[in-house]
Amino acid sequence: MDCQKGLDGVVVDQTKISSTANAHLTYVGYPIEEIASATFEEVVFLLWYKQLPDQQKLKKFRQQLVNKMILPAETIRLLLYIAKEPQHPMSILRTTTSLLGTTNDVEHDEPPKILSKMLTAIAAIIRIRDNEPLIDVDPQLSVVENFLYMITGKRPSSELTRMFSTVMILHADHEFNASTFTARVVASTLSDYYSCLTAAVCALKGPLHGGANERVFEMLQKIKNQQLDPVEYIKDQLAQKRKIMGFGHRIYKSGDPRAFILKKIAQKLAVETNNQAYYQIQQQLADYMLKKYKLHPNVDYYTALIYHCIGLKKETYTMIFAACRTVGWLAHIMEQRQENILIRPSSEYVGPQNRHYKI
Ligand SMILES: CC(C)(COP(=O)(O)OP(=O)(O)OC[C@H]1O[C@@H](n2cnc3c(N)ncnc32)[C@H](O)[C@@H]1OP(=O)(O)O)[C@@H](O)C(=O)NCCC(=O)NCCS
Repeated sequence: MDCQKGLDGVVVDQTKISSTANAHLTYVGYPIEEIASATFEEVVFLLWYKQLPDQQKLKKFRQQLVNKMILPAETIRLLLYIAKEPQHPMSILRTTTSLLGTTNDVEHDEPPKILSKMLTAIAAIIRIRDNEPLIDVDPQLSVVENFLYMITGKRPSSELTRMFSTVMILHADHEFNASTFTARVVASTLSDYYSCLTAAVCALKGPLHGGANERVFEMLQKIKNQQLDPVEYIKDQLAQKRKIMGFGHRIYKSGDPRAFILKKIAQKLAVETNNQAYYQIQQQLADYMLKKYKLHPNVDYYTALIYHCIGLKKETYTMIFAACRTVGWLAHIMEQRQENILIRPSSEYVGPQNRHYKI
């Protein structure tokens, strides 16, 4: 069999969770353009159980998730130590995800509790690093409202909750992306949920995957603060053979459907928070990249500005991606477990042959 570098175009398994066939993103058959308007809890339920819940089931599921947005005291104690370390927040999250899997009660942890703990831990890391007190879950609020509340300390408006729900839904799953595939590889060895998630966090951390959103904002900040010409900046980066973060995609060669939706949210929030200068730079960059290289913005391009408008520090952006993608990781771990086969590909050996070790 021919070697397929990067597994590009290789179909390694079947899935009923999401699809990017023909560059159309669907969740369990629903187009992303429609399901982006659902509630976050509905989408979690859909991705995990393959059907939308009725009102009664939705209410119960929401309460189940919200009630579990609590961390064990021992996790909080340890978090207070590690979260303040100078390392990147994604390194802290990597350790935290592993930590969540080491408390006494975890053996029976199931996806609803695991997702709720991850969201709460991510909010806690942000608060601790900002020297802010931790916020307790409010049982009257939804999962997204609580997540925003536990990060910012403010109960979000219904408009912000709606926009952020869409952001979270758009990041929830994306078939066999690098971190999800990583989670499935670990799941295929019959390892536990937290081990799979820790591995997935490690994969998401890299700049060619989830780490791109932070670098997008770094670029925007540099252009704005140093009053650089956006197009000249890009030309200079490309001349140095550097990739422009937030552009290009392995699957979407004619545009990422998530970016189209996110662009509108970024534009709206930029106006509301007086960040139009960043949005204008983004437009100039996007126009040039499309015209000159036929490269479109991907999911990380506009989220960078959205997170800035919400008041998040750029180092935390990839953690927010991780919070959303935990939904998909858990869906795929469950699916892998249901129809498990050990994932173990082969390689083509191209090193030296026929050597001998003289005794
Ligand atoms: C996402 C990504 C890894 C997809 O990679 P891929 O499918 O393997 O595509 P390639 O990296 O082979 O790119 C194909 C061509 O487009 C170019 N290209 C792709 N993305 C580019 C970018 N962001 N900036 C500049 N050039 C880019 C490559 O240099 C390559 O050119 P070549 O054929 O002359 O060598 C790639 O587009 C990238 O690195 N983007 C920046 C990081 C990013 O935003 N990641 C988030 C993804 S959601």
